[in-house]
Amino acid sequence: MTAPRIATLLAAGQPGSSVIVRGWVRTRRGSKRVNFLAVNDGSCLESLQVVAAENLPNFDEVQRITTGCSVEIQGLLAASEGQGQRVEVQASRVTVLGWAEGDAYPLQKKGHTLEFLRQIAHLRPRTNTFGAVFRVRNVLGDAVHRFFQDRGFLWAHTPIITASDCEGAGQMFHVTTGAGPDAFFGRPVSLTVSGQLEGELLATALGAIYTFGPTFRAENSNTPRHLAEFWMVEPEVAFLDLAGDMDLAESFLRAIISAVLDRCGADLAFLQERFEPTLIPTLEHIVASEFVRLSYTEAIALLEASGEAFEFPPRWGADIQTEHERWLTERHIRRPVIVHGYPREIKAFYMRQSDDGRTVAAMDVLFPRIGEIIGGSQREERLDRLRSRIREMGMSEDALSWYLDTRRFGTVPHAGFGLGFERAVQFVTGMSNIRDVIPFPRTPGNADF
Ligand code: 4AD
Ligand code: MG
Repeated sequence: MTAPRIATLLAAGQPGSSVIVRGWVRTRRGSKRVNFLAVNDGSCLESLQVVAAENLPNFDEVQRITTGCSVEIQGLLAASEGQGQRVEVQASRVTVLGWAEGDAYPLQKKGHTLEFLRQIAHLRPRTNTFGAVFRVRNVLGDAVHRFFQDRGFLWAHTPIITASDCEGAGQMFHVTTGAGPDAFFGRPVSLTVSGQLEGELLATALGAIYTFGPTFRAENSNTPRHLAEFWMVEPEVAFLDLAGDMDLAESFLRAIISAVLDRCGADLAFLQERFEPTLIPTLEHIVASEFVRLSYTEAIALLEASGEAFEFPPRWGADIQTEHERWLTERHIRRPVIVHGYPREIKAFYMRQSDDGRTVAAMDVLFPRIGEIIGGSQREERLDRLRSRIREMGMSEDALSWYLDTRRFGTVPHAGFGLGFERAVQFVTGMSNIRDVIPFPRTPGNADF
């Protein structure tokens, strides 16, 4: 029999009904006559209070239950007299499914640091913090699918093993059986850094698609915003230009943040209290405010005029750094900013070249606290322009012949973007380190679990 989840019992369980509850004991307290177990099953932040009295045949066993034990409880739901909770369970049977070795269980006390919990990432999902983060992550992922499915986008699965380096940044993990880089596929292959190029093949046939899957980057950047393995959401849409792409990104971000506000009230309140005092008002503010659109040239001018002592002085032609992104979104404009029209020299080969000869139809969505959360562009749909850019950048036209075919045969304007899913989870949970929003983070030097 499937037991109802504790979230359901707490919200809607009828006093007087008999129930079975399964979960892990967070705490046990009480006297020689009656014990109170706080049982959590991961379905919600709250634990369910179980009252276990001395008339239980195994009451001596109950008194030996420690934090972390797994239990199955049979009993009667009763209106709770205690503080906070609507219902509790009066146990008629308590079965210990698994003991937890008493003091050896690492999650005894509250208040472990996030750094310590990262070292026990196999157990940290059992804490309030990580339960909350992973429930919010789930709702955010579901909201991604709902947003696109409601608008007729097809979820497309692009390859993880690939021979193409979409972003051209040379940060790929090579895949080999050990018999040599070419042995299995007859050519060197890597883990994908982005599903975009294959996404374009599908969008120029199916109209509107999105990918939602893992991507890999061998960036040696040990920052609170980079992972070697992260999830990306990449919509790609035929007959869309840059302005439409920015509109899509903005309505998408608003929709998924609203879904979290609607569905994760208790977890957000907990995360706000623990980690980010302005979390909920900030999310509400983002949902309500229009994102500001700013050309790259205007953004550089603002940064130059700011009088700030940046580590990297802003300069037309150079990339906008995290410190610049944060100044724009947190200090100056105080809401999300979409910067568009970047210099072509600092962007990937596939972006549409502007008439000015210096910029491309690229856009980045910058968020307070996070910096770049989305990167996207209108793609170069003109065969001759795309070819000459590929040649200029010293790339192989041959290796990209399949990609160029979309421009040879029935080319259309099209655009898309990539959302760094963990950066979005960081934003909605208020967690300051990206390693704390993915269950088992991969970063330079770390691939445990
Ligand atoms: O800006 P990026 O490199 O864009 C692309 O890969 C395009 N092909 C997307 C597209 O147009 N379809 O990456 C997209 C986003 C970034 O804005 C950032 O949020 C996230 O992916 N990202 C990372 N997140 C975590 N760890 C990393 N190492 C990341 N690198 C990029
Ligand atoms: Mg980018």
